[in-house]
Amino acid sequence: MTENPIAEIVAAREEARRRKDAHADVCFLVTVGEHQRPEARPVSLRDVDERGFGLLLNALSPKWRQIEKSGQCSLTILWSSVERQYRVYGELRPMDPDRLRFWWDRKVLGSRLLEHYYDAYRPQSEPVASREVFLEGIAELGRRWPNAAAVPPPESLRGVCLWPTEIDVWHGSPSDRLHDRRLFRRISGGWTAETLVP
Ligand SMILES: Cc1cc2nc3c(=O)[nH]c(=O)nc-3n(C[C@H](O)[C@H](O)[C@H](O)COP(=O)(O)O)c2cc1C
Repeated sequence: MTENPIAEIVAAREEARRRKDAHADVCFLVTVGEHQRPEARPVSLRDVDERGFGLLLNALSPKWRQIEKSGQCSLTILWSSVERQYRVYGELRPMDPDRLRFWWDRKVLGSRLLEHYYDAYRPQSEPVASREVFLEGIAELGRRWPNAAAVPPPESLRGVCLWPTEIDVWHGSPSDRLHDRRLFRRISGGWTAETLVP
């Protein structure tokens, strides 16, 4: 195991991509909801580097409200193709606007229209009368912006990076189940590492 957990995660992700791991670009975002209810959902994992773990979230969504209210969230990453699990804790910081633009530019038309639907019709995760009603709204937005390049990012889109202060690294050992675990804690200029009972 390396002494820099971020470098290790970047390398493991490259290997997971090489092995066509369906979750190489996915992580689970965990928040605290009403009445302290834990809530987890998959989200796309964007850049991973020294600035943190990049995510695109919508500010009108329940998860965003939960993060704002509790001031807390964490990420869990599972790449089974390389026997790796990471649990990441830290603080959310804004994503560099250039990177937000980079990721927006890679979104397909439907995904861009959906981001505008939240603003124009109903926020993410709110009930809607029917799927047909939802699709009518998307079609209406599509008439306004018939191609992806013309659709601007909506004001409610947020690019954020979870800047890690603690990373729990798990290397699976499938043959004997005696997995290797380290807890990394950020200190000025580097990381400390402790071995954990797996
Ligand atoms: C593979 C995958 C990737 C996803 N990526 C994102 C994402 O990048 N951002 C996002 O807000 N939701 C993403 N979602 C949808 C979320 O899992 C979730 O359903 C949605 O954001 C609503 O969450 P909320 O009600 O807790 O706010 C993704 C779902 C899947 C299955």
